[in-house]
Amino acid sequence: MRIISKILLLYMALFVGCYHDKEEELVPCTADTSHVHYAPEVTSVFTSYGCYGCHVGTAPEGGISLEGYTAVKKLVDNGRLLGAISHAPGFAPMPHGAPKMSECDINIIKAWVNAGAPDR
Ligand code: HEC
Repeated sequence: MRIISKILLLYMALFVGCYHDKEEELVPCTADTSHVHYAPEVTSVFTSYGCYGCHVGTAPEGGISLEGYTAVKKLVDNGRLLGAISHAPGFAPMPHGAPKMSECDINIIKAWVNAGAPDR
């Protein structure tokens, strides 16, 4: 009986250990998502993933401009921003040719969108 419960405990510890590994972010998520603004929160996320390297100027990649609030708000309203960064089916996964953004950063954008994507 005792051995069985020890084995059981070990199993649970291993399971919890693995589960924890998967969920854990390499960098702890400390972002405050209670009040996200277009600038600086959303624009900083775009900057850190190099979005502006492809999506500004007169001929942005894919014809998609992230230049300025109005352009980004349009991609919020037609669902393409969240579709692309969450790798939803039917959308081109962004950032292009790079790993998916961290859950932490995706949550910053989601929180902003859910709050109505305010300009400030
Ligand atoms: C290396 C260049 C590059 C980078 C970096 C990049 N994109 Fe893109 N993006 C593209 C290209 C090319 C397309 C068009 C892809 C297609 O239509 O298949 C595109 C398309 C999009 C679309 C439209 C997706 C759809 O299916 O409607 C959105 C929204 C977008 N990008 C946002 C972003 C965001 C946000 C980032 C940063 C997290 C980012 N992109 C980073 C090149 C890039």
